[in-house]
Amino acid sequence: MRVKEFDIKDINLAEQGRWRIDWALEEMPVIRSIIDRFAKERPFEGVKISACLHVTTETANLMRTLQVGGADVVLTASNPLSTQDDVAAALVSGFEMPVYAIKGESNEVYYQHLNAALDHHPVLTMDDGADLVSLLHKDRSNQISEVIGGTEETTTGIIRLRAMAADGALRFPILAVNDAMTKHLFDNRYGTGQSTLDGIIRATNILIAGKVFTVAGYGWCSRGIAMRAKGLGANVIITEVDPLRALEAIMDGFRVMPMLEAAPQSDFICSATGDKHVIDKQHFESAKDGCCISNSGHFNVEINIPALEAMAVEKRRPRPFVEEYVLADGRTIRLLGEGRLVNLAAAEGHPAAVMDMSFANQALGALHILKNADKLENKVYSVPEEIDREIARYKLEAMGVKIDVLTEEQVKYLNSWEEGT
Ligand SMILES: NC(=O)c1ccc[n+]([C@@H]2O[C@H](COP(=O)([O-])OP(=O)(O)OC[C@H]3O[C@@H](n4cnc5c(N)ncnc54)[C@H](O)[C@@H]3O)[C@@H](O)[C@H]2O)c1
Repeated sequence: MRVKEFDIKDINLAEQGRWRIDWALEEMPVIRSIIDRFAKERPFEGVKISACLHVTTETANLMRTLQVGGADVVLTASNPLSTQDDVAAALVSGFEMPVYAIKGESNEVYYQHLNAALDHHPVLTMDDGADLVSLLHKDRSNQISEVIGGTEETTTGIIRLRAMAADGALRFPILAVNDAMTKHLFDNRYGTGQSTLDGIIRATNILIAGKVFTVAGYGWCSRGIAMRAKGLGANVIITEVDPLRALEAIMDGFRVMPMLEAAPQSDFICSATGDKHVIDKQHFESAKDGCCISNSGHFNVEINIPALEAMAVEKRRPRPFVEEYVLADGRTIRLLGEGRLVNLAAAEGHPAAVMDMSFANQALGALHILKNADKLENKVYSVPEEIDREIARYKLEAMGVKIDVLTEEQVKYLNSWEEGT
């Protein structure tokens, strides 16, 4: 069911997109070094890759990296609201790359686009949230034998794929990019931290200082959000279900309590857990008037939007990316970015400097799969440690930062058990 050679909003946006893609590349020294290497080695010569990623400037630079390496790449959006239409246009016009992505596309079009990407008959898949791999296994299983493996970008996708592997349903190996230290320690924490606050501020333009800001979860993403909200002067509350993470949040200086207690005092609530209905009907029932609710987890199910829709007597749109629900008692609840990843819906996603490392893992990870496919089982694998360390080394080098090197004496000491007190 191929839509067309590409399906984007407006090809005339290409020039602006190209400027922004090149601007992002300036902040991506690791990707630049991989581009130089791939241009010489052409390791993906003729390999068909279908990528399902947020269509952003940084993704464009990953796509050009693979293309320079010889790959035949198509790109589809991994979320209906995260596409940057100018970037999609620039990829089609400047890089002759088929792209299927329009910001604000319906769920139906979203799946038409995924199908179009699979019509490309990929040998490698690149996913963010596992929708492409899941569709391939559910509706297009006749194509699975053509695929040698894939990569997965995010926590939610990895949870889904590990569940598939545990059920014996996964039919090719996947490399879990999110597991790499150079991914989640930086992208999920500093990237989501900065860009989520950026999205909330762009959507609302409300001062964060002095407000009560509740963050659901204290994982990699949510701790980044909490850290940046605190830095802007908010009084931050954390909600958790994991006692260790809750304890960590307390010791980091945050208040911790159940969502039911947090909701009535919160000016902002942001969820980033990967879980369902974290902000639910009972929380809307007691939420503070005017509370701005958002999500930075992969799927919008973190917020029970159907319940909010059912409770509302009126719905209005005072600003782009803000839906105001008026409840029967007169209170309003403001939903940002339709409950989809607010950092991508209302802002531009992660800054390029962190995506530099995440996408270096994607590029080198895809190469690892290509080279080792015959040895890999139908499982979810972590990124090999040497790739992770190589990326960290490149990044430090690009930042002009030197570190100490173990002396021979230290290597010996660290590997011996004889030396004690
Ligand atoms: N916005 C983005 O650009 C972006 C970037 C990376 C990851 N993500 C997504 O963000 C989500 C979180 O990723 P992560 O890497 O931080 O995961 P993580 O596993 O490190 O953290 C999730 C945390 O949420 C907690 N949690 C689960 N259910 C909860 C509930 N009902 N109430 C409160 N806390 C709950 C867990 O205990 C855990 O501590 C995933 O969906 C991931 O795919 C988004």
